[in-house]
Amino acid sequence: MPEKESKDVKVQIMGAGAIGSLFGALIQLSGFSVHYVARGRQLEALKENGLTITGLIEGHLRVDVSNRPEEADLTIVAVKAYDTEGAAKMLSEVDCGITFTIQNGIGNVEILSKYLERVVGGVTTYGANLVGPGIVNYAGKGVVYAGNDGYASEEAKFVKRVLEKGFNCELVDDISFRIWSKAIVNAAINPLTAICRVRNGKIVEVEELWSIAKAVVKEGVEVLKKIGLPETDFIEMVRDVATKTSKNRSSMLQDVENGKKTEIDFINGEIVRRAEELGLEAPTNKILLKLVKGVEKAYGIIE
Ligand code: PAF
Repeated sequence: MPEKESKDVKVQIMGAGAIGSLFGALIQLSGFSVHYVARGRQLEALKENGLTITGLIEGHLRVDVSNRPEEADLTIVAVKAYDTEGAAKMLSEVDCGITFTIQNGIGNVEILSKYLERVVGGVTTYGANLVGPGIVNYAGKGVVYAGNDGYASEEAKFVKRVLEKGFNCELVDDISFRIWSKAIVNAAINPLTAICRVRNGKIVEVEELWSIAKAVVKEGVEVLKKIGLPETDFIEMVRDVATKTSKNRSSMLQDVENGKKTEIDFINGEIVRRAEELGLEAPTNKILLKLVKGVEKAYGIIE
């Protein structure tokens, strides 16, 4: 593991969208050197104007940015789940160090591990949104879980060393369970908010939506049980997250409003796929998967 001073540790952000930019900014402010990999208007804006942070921290940073990954000690993967495979292939062409995923959805660790060796799983509940190209709003503090299954790896300890100044970061030895837990919460909240065009709070306030959310959770829990992951009160967890984030527009709602492809395949889609693989059924998740795909097609987001 690299035993360097912070300023000599190079951290790379693969995917400088909202959450990637927030991570980059807080890590840079903690004294590490950061390289951002971005594309499109975000790349141009970061090159020309640097990165502006608003919200819980206000500031402006000059950034080192390009459209290709470079050598690094630690690479934080923050691309959308449907871009994981492409990102992993690009990263496998350089020595990108330890790879830490903070992405939404199920299956990212597995995809990254096909191409890369030192992969650490992660989950974050920090809130960020892009106000415009090169401007990130730090909307909410949360927690970052980092780890592998069954043990706290040396790689995960290194991730914690990088994150602990800027974030609440906890090392865990049950990262698959944490990833599934977040995905189940997302599966219950995100598609309903995207289809009905409502903020998160409506999921618990509107009886009809709440009954669908509960059905989504129950199907997810059946899959969890079958793959041997522990159960917890996910319905309470969804109620809690939707209530605490009641004014938020979920990431999936923002995606459809902005004409962007959603991560539905890696959230409800993955619950359906795993359920079928295990001889179970997940009809509510399947309907939501079809509805969101229908929205994407009807609005010309995908073909
Ligand atoms: O995807 C999201 O928007 C968030 O994970 C959550 C928890 C639904 C809150 O908005």
